[in-house]
Amino acid sequence: MDVRSGANTKTGTLTLGDKSYTFPVYEGTIGPDVIDISKLYNQAGIFTYDPGYTSTASCESKITYIDGDNGILLYRGYPIEQLAEHGDFLETCYLLLYGELPTAAQKHDFDYLVTRHTMVHEQMSRFFQGFRRDAHPMAVMVGSVGALSAFYHDSTDISDPVQRDIASIRMIAKLPTLAAMAYKYSIGQPFIYPKNDLAYAANFLRMCYAVPCEEYKVNPVLARAMDRIFILHADHEQNASTSTVRLSGSSGANPFACIAAGCACLWGPAHGGANEAALKMLAEIGTVNRIPEFIKRAKDKNDSFRLMGFGHRVYRHYDPRAKIMQKTCHEVLNEMGIKDDPLLDVALELERIALHDDYFIEKKLYPNIDFYSGITLKAMGFPTAMFTVLFAVARTVGWIAQWKEMIEDPSQKIGRPRQLYSGATQREYLPISRRK
Ligand code: SDX
Repeated sequence: MDVRSGANTKTGTLTLGDKSYTFPVYEGTIGPDVIDISKLYNQAGIFTYDPGYTSTASCESKITYIDGDNGILLYRGYPIEQLAEHGDFLETCYLLLYGELPTAAQKHDFDYLVTRHTMVHEQMSRFFQGFRRDAHPMAVMVGSVGALSAFYHDSTDISDPVQRDIASIRMIAKLPTLAAMAYKYSIGQPFIYPKNDLAYAANFLRMCYAVPCEEYKVNPVLARAMDRIFILHADHEQNASTSTVRLSGSSGANPFACIAAGCACLWGPAHGGANEAALKMLAEIGTVNRIPEFIKRAKDKNDSFRLMGFGHRVYRHYDPRAKIMQKTCHEVLNEMGIKDDPLLDVALELERIALHDDYFIEKKLYPNIDFYSGITLKAMGFPTAMFTVLFAVARTVGWIAQWKEMIEDPSQKIGRPRQLYSGATQREYLPISRRK
């Protein structure tokens, strides 16, 4: 049951001139209360104004909770640190989708189901042939994920819970296959089919790195790291791409199209594209002695340069995922025998400086998940252009869980924000002969 339907006792009052308007205030289980201003325009003829949604709750959700001041991230109440340490990605998928950790039997059945949906329609490979080999893999993902709705009509009726569930399983299962195909296509190698005797992350690594000419043995340390990276990126409350998926889904668009919209939004360097941008920034800095020059640029109001991988809309303290990402980074570098990675040296020194610099402390700018993920993924052999693709593979379950929650919310309606209009007032059409 949602907290909005309970007997509401708290209210908030807005006074505009000589009139006051009272609205219900809802309390969540944890986190800030919300004031329901949905009737404000009807009562007072005025809109609220919050362009970046910095103070706006777009929905009620039971999936993920973030405490930005204390660096806390919970998936269905479980701390990200515990899930990353003790569980695996498909367990996290089950938790995000259905709200509880699976029993052993439920986990077995869920793994079996997802594994047997990992193949894509064979004609999908011909769909790829239309792309240039040097297309950005995220462009390929936006296109191919959207194209899934052309292949799976039998799971696009969003009013049917069975079809919603199948579409969810299909997307969790097929995104890694499409991501691996995007990578193979970009390097001119043949596509590798999934293998049903491999776990999710191992299967993905094999589809990326195996070739038909020889057996490929998945490195268990890298498979574990990949699985943990998927867990860390699985969901994150109402971030830009999740809000895009929710807004797309509110019109009744099919789930494949909604996830394609989420991929498109995630691609931006201020969001999921930051891992690619962070690695490029570290490479541009190049050496530790050039860090002060870039720190100076980051502080310069007249310079659009920002430290990629730093800052967050919600985390005003350390991103808990960044700590786990840093630990994973060291595990992968050790496993790959990379002793002195200059990019890591720059990253560690940049982090040290930023954490002690008054500007970053005052602005509450800490490393976010994207700061260490780029170094880790590069060490695993992924090209920079694939980093956001991997983020999209992981975030698909979060997008789908949030989409399902919205569709199943009886109060949901099409999202349709309004505006503050500052354009021309009404004026008469002028024939071109009279225009100067
Ligand atoms: C992700 O929302 C999510 O949950 C996203 C995500 C997820 O899992 O879905 O966590 C994934 O997107 C992580 C963030 C990845 N992006 C980056 O690393 C790009 C670099 N970071 C910035 O672009 C920025 O920090 C944002 C976009 C992440 C947050 O921007 P906000 O909340 O709109 O903050 P802001 O731009 O208003 O910045 C506040 C101040 C500004 O200074 P003033 O105008 O107040 O003087 O901090 C400054 C900014 O100039 N600032 C930075 C900075 N980030 C903010 N200065 C230098 N370097 C930075 N990285």
